[in-house]
Amino acid sequence: VTLHLVLAESALELVPQEIRNTPAVRSDSRRRGTDPSEIILDRSLHHSSMPRLSHGERRGRPDLVHEAVLSATGTPLFMNGKLKVYVHTNQNLVLQIEEKTRIPKSYNRFRGLAEQLLTERPKSGLVKVYDADITKLVKKVIGADRVVGMSTQGAPTDLGELSKELTATRRPCVLVGGFPRGHFDPAVLRMTDRLVRISPMPLEAHVVVARVVYEVEKATNRIND
Ligand SMILES: C[S@@+](CC[C@H](N)C(=O)[O-])C[C@H]1O[C@@H](n2cnc3c(N)ncnc32)[C@H](O)[C@@H]1O
Repeated sequence: VTLHLVLAESALELVPQEIRNTPAVRSDSRRRGTDPSEIILDRSLHHSSMPRLSHGERRGRPDLVHEAVLSATGTPLFMNGKLKVYVHTNQNLVLQIEEKTRIPKSYNRFRGLAEQLLTERPKSGLVKVYDADITKLVKKVIGADRVVGMSTQGAPTDLGELSKELTATRRPCVLVGGFPRGHFDPAVLRMTDRLVRISPMPLEAHVVVARVVYEVEKATNRIND
């Protein structure tokens, strides 16, 4: 069984039109010699330009997406081709990472790759990019028969037990929020069969990803074989 892991509503996008002409974006663009339309929105650089964006508090965190992707792709499950990773963005684009693809460890190189992918939107290759909202991704692309959303608002759940249930299905799908604060959009919640909380504490997405993947590895008995 392959686990389909979706980083949902991720804070990964190119600098939106309405702030491309602001001082923080322009100076970043000059420094890097890159057009503002081809730069990833990054709060650590563009903070002063972001108050005018709607839902700005949930946007511009490519670092968080990078960490979560590395947490997934560094695991035996991924390296064994039993984990498929999808970054669904707040702009309803999907970056689909093929099995065994190596994602850059350096943030600068990851940012460069993300900029290239979002600008060129390749239809094939190690990371494909296409338009899909969460419903299309989960129902059509993945064809999931079991969808579990991870949320601090979910029901307290033992991850080991949940992973056994997940691995008993054909195409299990787990959704983890790829945003820094707030909760899933109602459209995402409607897609889930279950919403679960795996700790009373709010955790970083990369920690949740690492735990889910590890428990699924244990449930499929692929730890040391
Ligand atoms: C940084 S959190 C997002 C915002 C928020 N702090 C929260 O409490 O959900 C990133 C994602 O990690 C997952 N997550 C965080 N803490 C969790 C928990 N205790 N149980 C289950 N999922 C959790 C959720 O999918 C969440 O969208």
